[in-house]
Amino acid sequence: MAMRRAASVIGARALSSTRVSCPSLLSRDLHASPGSKKIVGVFYKANEYAAMNPNFLGCAENALGIREWLESQGHQYIVTDDKDGPDCELDKHIPDLHVLISTPFHPAYVTAERIKRAKNLQLLLTAGIGSDHVDLKAAAEAGLTVAEVTGSNTVSVAEDELMRILILVRNFVPGHHQVINGEWNVAAIAHRAYDLEGKTVGTVGAGRIGRLLLQRLKPFNCNLLYHDRLKMDPELEKEIGAKFEEDVDKMLPKCDIVVINMPLTEKTKGMFNKERIAKLKKGVLIVNNARGAIMDTQAIVDACSSGHIAGYSGDVWNPQPAPKDHPWRYMPNQAMTPHTSGTTIDAQLRYAAGTKDMLERYFKGEEFPAQNYIVNEGQLASQYR
Ligand SMILES: NC(=O)c1ccc[n+]([C@@H]2O[C@H](COP(=O)([O-])OP(=O)(O)OC[C@H]3O[C@@H](n4cnc5c(N)ncnc54)[C@H](O)[C@@H]3O)[C@@H](O)[C@H]2O)c1
Repeated sequence: MAMRRAASVIGARALSSTRVSCPSLLSRDLHASPGSKKIVGVFYKANEYAAMNPNFLGCAENALGIREWLESQGHQYIVTDDKDGPDCELDKHIPDLHVLISTPFHPAYVTAERIKRAKNLQLLLTAGIGSDHVDLKAAAEAGLTVAEVTGSNTVSVAEDELMRILILVRNFVPGHHQVINGEWNVAAIAHRAYDLEGKTVGTVGAGRIGRLLLQRLKPFNCNLLYHDRLKMDPELEKEIGAKFEEDVDKMLPKCDIVVINMPLTEKTKGMFNKERIAKLKKGVLIVNNARGAIMDTQAIVDACSSGHIAGYSGDVWNPQPAPKDHPWRYMPNQAMTPHTSGTTIDAQLRYAAGTKDMLERYFKGEEFPAQNYIVNEGQLASQYR
C-alpha cells in the first residue's frame, strides 16, 4: 500500500488491509478527496545561477521542473528556501499542505512538532537520498508515507568520494592554496603525499554507493574492505574484490582510508566518537559524504588538530546549511565542501524525474517502487529500525 492518506480508494483499502502498528494512525483523517492538493517544495535558492542551465532543476527557482505540470492539473505548488526559524515561509504552509518535497542538500527539518501541526499532510518526498531530516518515528506514528528517489544520485556520490580520496591522499588542497597565495613550496606538500595504490580502504556501509565506490577503486590496486549489516553475495564480493568485515571495530584499525556509506539512523548517530576515532590508525584519512551527524563534531575537530586524522573530507554537515562558525570550516587537514556531491545536473535530472513519477502515482493511488519507501504503513524501512 503506497500511502495511508493518499486518495479515496487507497484510504478505504488501507483501513481494511494494513498492519496498523500505531494507534494514532486511525485518529487522522484519511484523505478522501482526490481533488486539488497543496504541494510544498523546499529547495536551495540559485539566484543568478538559476537561468544558466536549463537542466538545473534542483533549485527553488526551477523547482524540479514540475510547476507547469502540477498547476495544469489544478494543484497548488508553493516553493521556498525559507525553512528554519519560527516565522519561516515553510511553517506558514505546514497546517494545510498535503505533500512536502524536500532535499537533503537544503533539508527541511520535519520535526515531530511540525508533523503534529500538519493536519493535512499525507506524503513526504525526498528529492534525492537520505530522509533523516524527517523524524521518521513521528511520521510513522502519524501514518505518513516517506519516500525517496532511491538510486538517483549514487553514481554522483561514488565518483565524488573517489575524488575526495585522491585529494586527501595527494595532499592536494594545501598545494592549490599555495598557487592562489603566490607561494611555491614543494616540500610542504610532498612530505605527506602518497600513492593510493597498496593502501587499505574500508567502507562502513556497502549498499548502492559503497559498492559503486568499491568497483571504482578496484583498478587502483588497493586492499579493499567493507563492513555492513549485510554480507554481499559471494559472487558480487569476488567481482568487487572486497573482503567482508563483520566487526567494524576490527576493520577500522586496519584502514589507511575510511569511507562512510551508511544512512544516519539511531544506531549510526555519533558512531565516530572520541573512543572509536582513537582506535583508528594515526594518520588515517576519512571521507564522509553520508551524514555529518554520524560523526561526533568535536571529536573530529580534535583528531584533525592533533594530526591523528591526517585528512577529513566530505560534503555533509550537522546542521545544514552549516553556520558560519561551524568548527569543521576552520579545523586543519580538511577538504570540506557544501553538500554538493549528490546534486550534479545528471543527479538532478534523475531525482526530478523520480519525484514526478511518485507524484503521478500518488495522484493515481498507485504503489511506489518498493525500494523508495522509507516509511510505509507505519513501518520504517529495515535499516532505519
Ligand atoms: N552526500 C550526498 O549527496 C548523498 C547522496 C546520496 C546518499 N547519501 C547518503 O548516503 C547514504 C547511503 O546511500 P546508499 O544509496 O548507498 O544507501 P543504501 O541503502 O543502498 O546503502 C546503505 C547501506 O548501509 C548499510 N547500513 C545501514 N545501517 C547500518 C549499520 N548500522 N551498520 C552497518 N551498515 C549499515 C545498509 O545495510 C546498506 O547496505 C544515504 O543514506 C545518505 O545518507 C548522501
